Amino acid sequence: MTGAARDAALDRARSLIRPADLPADARTDEGFLDLLGNRDAPRPTAAQHAMNSRFVAAIYERAWRPVATAALGVGGLSGTRERARAADDLALGGEQRVLDVACGPGNFTRYFGSRLTGDGIAVGFDISRPMLGQAARRNRSGHAAYVRGDARRLPFEDGTFDAVCCYAALYLVPEPLTVVDELIRVLAPGGRIAVMTSVDRGCEPVASVLSTVAGTLGVRMFDRDTLPAIFAAAGLTEVRQQFHGLAQFLSATRPPLDGPS
Ligand SMILES: C[S@@+](CC[C@H](N)C(=O)[O-])C[C@H]1O[C@@H](n2cnc3c(N)ncnc32)[C@H](O)[C@@H]1O
Repeated sequence: MTGAARDAALDRARSLIRPADLPADARTDEGFLDLLGNRDAPRPTAAQHAMNSRFVAAIYERAWRPVATAALGVGGLSGTRERARAADDLALGGEQRVLDVACGPGNFTRYFGSRLTGDGIAVGFDISRPMLGQAARRNRSGHAAYVRGDARRLPFEDGTFDAVCCYAALYLVPEPLTVVDELIRVLAPGGRIAVMTSVDRGCEPVASVLSTVAGTLGVRMFDRDTLPAIFAAAGLTEVRQQFHGLAQFLSATRPPLDGPS
């Protein structure tokens, strides 16, 4: 993979940003497009703080995520199988535009890019500079590029992407339901969305204890119904929800414009 192909991928990602959200002096010298400049990621919780650490960014893919996934009880689903599952749920292929929100070090984004051809592009989007530095060093390609911004306000026009993914992040971000609205807003008619986040499946009093521990760390536990209800209210179809331990996997389709409403 040549540097020119990686630069072309970053240019394609840049071309998708709304002009009003693209600062004239946006930097790319660390290998990703930085829309936030010197504004740092928020650090309100222990979990968010960890995501802004260079150390966690460096060990995330090999050590942090497998441990976190095991803690959520996503038993039997290796990182490789989880990536393949996400790509299948998103029906990836061809010259699609794919958005991987809260991409961390690009551990899913690069794989998504490997499923694309031609001008297809997987855009990894995150707020953490250390995470994106790692993504740019390890997981850039001719079909994978990275943008730094805040998922609570995605810098893309409505319906920009054929596929939108958000794995292992909604339980960490502030205002997660605002982020969900944004994921749906940027999904094109006929496009697919896939989300993995936490779910509280315990019976009382276990559920209360778990929620309290998670809350202390800044990890939110969702109930079973909130996300499918938001998907349905937004008009998404083929809503599918599966549970693995304390994780839920959701996928859905935005109906094509001439399809069933
Ligand atoms: C646990 S990592 C998930 C990485 C990857 N998606 C995965 O499944 O392994 C969560 C990511 O969410 C990012 N994040 C947190 N708040 C964010 C926000 N407001 N906007 C964009 N990214 C955010 C963090 O920086 C972190 O990289």
